[in-house]
Amino acid sequence: MCGIVGYVGRHNGVPVLLEGLQRLEYRGYDSAGVAVVNGDQLRVHKAEGRVRDLAEGLPKRVNGHVGIAHTRWATHGPPSDVNSHPHLDTEGNIAVVHNGILENAAALRAELEADGVTFTSDTDTEVLAHLIGRSTHEDLEDAVRDALAKVGGTYGLAVIDARQPDRIVVARNGSPVVLGIGNREMFVASDVAALVRHTQQVVLLDDGELATLTADGFTTSTLDRRPTQKETLELDADVSSYDKGGYDHFLRKEIADQPTAVEGTLRGRLDHRFATAHLGGIELTARELRGIRRVKILGCGSAYYSGIVGANIIESLARLPADAEPASEFRYRNPVIDPDTLYLAVSQSGETFDTLAAVQEVQRKGGRVLGVVNVVGSSIARACEGGVYIHAGPEISVASTKAFTSTAVAFALIALHIGRVRDLSPADGERLIGGLERLPEQLEEIMATEEHIARVAGRFSDATSAFFIGRVGGYPVALEGAQKLKEVSYVHAEAYPASELKHGPLALVTTDLPTVVVAPDDHLAAKNISAIEQIKARGGPVVAVGHRVLSELADDTLIVPKNEPELDPILLGVPLQLLAYHAALVLGRDVDQPRNLAKSVTVE
Ligand code: F6R
Repeated sequence: MCGIVGYVGRHNGVPVLLEGLQRLEYRGYDSAGVAVVNGDQLRVHKAEGRVRDLAEGLPKRVNGHVGIAHTRWATHGPPSDVNSHPHLDTEGNIAVVHNGILENAAALRAELEADGVTFTSDTDTEVLAHLIGRSTHEDLEDAVRDALAKVGGTYGLAVIDARQPDRIVVARNGSPVVLGIGNREMFVASDVAALVRHTQQVVLLDDGELATLTADGFTTSTLDRRPTQKETLELDADVSSYDKGGYDHFLRKEIADQPTAVEGTLRGRLDHRFATAHLGGIELTARELRGIRRVKILGCGSAYYSGIVGANIIESLARLPADAEPASEFRYRNPVIDPDTLYLAVSQSGETFDTLAAVQEVQRKGGRVLGVVNVVGSSIARACEGGVYIHAGPEISVASTKAFTSTAVAFALIALHIGRVRDLSPADGERLIGGLERLPEQLEEIMATEEHIARVAGRFSDATSAFFIGRVGGYPVALEGAQKLKEVSYVHAEAYPASELKHGPLALVTTDLPTVVVAPDDHLAAKNISAIEQIKARGGPVVAVGHRVLSELADDTLIVPKNEPELDPILLGVPLQLLAYHAALVLGRDVDQPRNLAKSVTVE
């Protein structure tokens, strides 16, 4: 989704802005633009397409000590040069970049047009540029505050003024803004990925806050002018984790990262002495944990699917009813919030708008929500009453892989923690700890089968459609496997509970439709075998993903090492990530930035 970068300092900001935009490319975008103050003039360049198109079209002489830049993901108006940000006021003094959606933009636009303002784009953001430009306040921060008093909706924004070329004014409401502190220079971005090369010292703006950045520092205040005190965070970011590290794609790198990512999730959290997990972010006493009657997990897309994996593990280890629901649906159905239910909001980015809105809905009705989040300090992490960071490291590829796996591991830790307060025996706790500790090595074993998986992927690159089926713990694996194939290869894929096949979808099984059967060697193995036979009887090609014992039945088998039954789904999903990756490679897809998708969906 949209990305913001800004620079003010002693140097020419253009290289910083362009490099920052490149770092944000992973979020998904359709056009890009940059504005710098040069002398007393704004220089603005925009281009539909890639950041490199923008960079190539930029005249060499363009430079400036203050500037802002943007990658746009179209919401109001199609992708085009004119709709790209930055947007200017009529006089051409004010330039604005904006993430989010202004809800009353149409009404404000009509008012401004009636007042003689001519718009040059279809965007909601241009409304802001005109409002700021027409403010009676001379000081830029006051003018921005004045304009923001008139708009509703969400924003993360950065504004410069050719007449005040020593500053950037930024503001946040529902869309992240991070300030980066340099040596007599300041940076701003919507995502730390654009900052880590320049500074490790950051400040996170809160909703309803504005900041003015100059080369010498920054001030922050609320919309109603009260100064605020901010804490400086030291990023613990390994700069190389934002690079491809020798791989062709971030997706492939992040699949390979999974053993390390899982180690990060487990680090310091396993307690052999009491056969439990320590989770510092869950500040609930044993008595409070015993008082929980249900667990409800809320997330979107792959985060929701990892939530289903998590609900299964929690239900089986903690013996509590647990389920997962798409946060995007939950927030709209006026849900009954039960004080004895523990709500868990799951999100890699911590910025998914629908998930954040679901958290707010639960909290508005007095419920307790904990986060299961990757990005430290993100909006969802801050909105929740605590929770568990998954510590998987930055996930850059649009399609989630290591975050899915690490999130499922985090749920297993939560299940162990709650389970040991309830009825899970020390022996079972120790069994689970042993299983969790084996995961990194077993993930490496799966990576070693990549060549075989790549060969099997040919079945899917040739197909126009594919089924993924699984039972109970295998069902979310099927959902996520189908999701990965769709996202990165664009091959149509649908997931079903295996038991549902005969209730309809079997009608579509032909020799042209491959089915992936998630078939671990567990108490449901016989049922999965019968599903495989039903498909084969109709000529359908079958790829089984499971344990060695089932390997004879299918046309192809992707074998994973066996762990504990509760943890097996975590491993079963990994060959399906590689399968999707290789199918996409054969088809020549842009695997890191699939069409129409964005890394974190910060709008409705
Ligand atoms: C799929 C994918 C998306 C995200 C979803 C939630 O590969 O990446 O389905 O899982 O948009 O994103 P987060 O986890 O950032 O809330």
